[in-house]
Amino acid sequence: MALDIVLWPDPVLNTPTQPVTDFGPSLTTLLDDMLEACKKAEGIGIAANQVGVPLRLAWVGREDGSFFEIINPQILERSGNVVYDEGCLSVPGEWEKVKRFEKVKVRYQDRTQAWHEVEAEGKLAHVFQHEIDHLDGKVFVHHLSQLKRDLIRRKMEKEKRYRREE
Ligand code: CO
Repeated sequence: MALDIVLWPDPVLNTPTQPVTDFGPSLTTLLDDMLEACKKAEGIGIAANQVGVPLRLAWVGREDGSFFEIINPQILERSGNVVYDEGCLSVPGEWEKVKRFEKVKVRYQDRTQAWHEVEAEGKLAHVFQHEIDHLDGKVFVHHLSQLKRDLIRRKMEKEKRYRREE
């Protein structure tokens, strides 16, 4: 079942998520449904709170188009600076330049509870930071000026009204 993606602003997107402790079958179902929603929306990543579930897990897309899950992720190291055009499934149609770290080292679990440590740079590092921000209750618009953020907020409120009327 494809899940609906929550639009910003919404409290679930602005609240830090809870660590995953239950690695039972419901986790697999949630992961599958999230990936389906992400692919349907042509995203390169999706966090659980974007489908209204306040848990610390997300999908991250690689440049080759494949995806992998990150559960209870933490950024261990950060270095360098880079600016990318950034968008988000919860802020459809909006793309803005955002300053990010060029390289990150991330630790996370997969659905079998195994821990992984990876060093990422370029686009992958950028997706890691975007998704982990979501899990910390932050959307990319939080990196923009108040003025831009307010402008986007008004557009999104209009979009929500439009979707409700459909
Ligand atoms: Co996003």
